[in-house]
Amino acid sequence: MSEFRTVAKVGDIPEGQGRSFAVGGTMVGVFLSQGRYLAINDFCPHMGASLADGYVEGDAVSCPWHAWRFSLVDGTWLDNSKSGIRSACYEVRVEGVEIQVRVSAPAASAGADCGGGKT
Ligand code: FES
Repeated sequence: MSEFRTVAKVGDIPEGQGRSFAVGGTMVGVFLSQGRYLAINDFCPHMGASLADGYVEGDAVSCPWHAWRFSLVDGTWLDNSKSGIRSACYEVRVEGVEIQVRVSAPAASAGADCGGGKT
């Protein structure tokens, strides 16, 4: 069972943007969207661009290279949700001023909603 790891402090990630962090050997993109922190795997499943550098609109991020769109809530490839292509998603919480992420494979493979930590 993995533990939550602190990646940043509240205020480090501007609203509507993402930042990438290494968490236990995994690059995680952490986003602030509409007051919620959400986290998915930072590597785009298409060709590996950093999704944290993408354009955030609501609960979706568009890859900066070829504009594939992914759900920040569950990692689904929104342009073809039946394809089975998805990014892993991770639990996020806010403890005091710390933004914390837990990287554990089961949340994404089960198709679970990873939720999000509130500011
Ligand atoms: S690398 Fe992300 S859409 Fe191509």
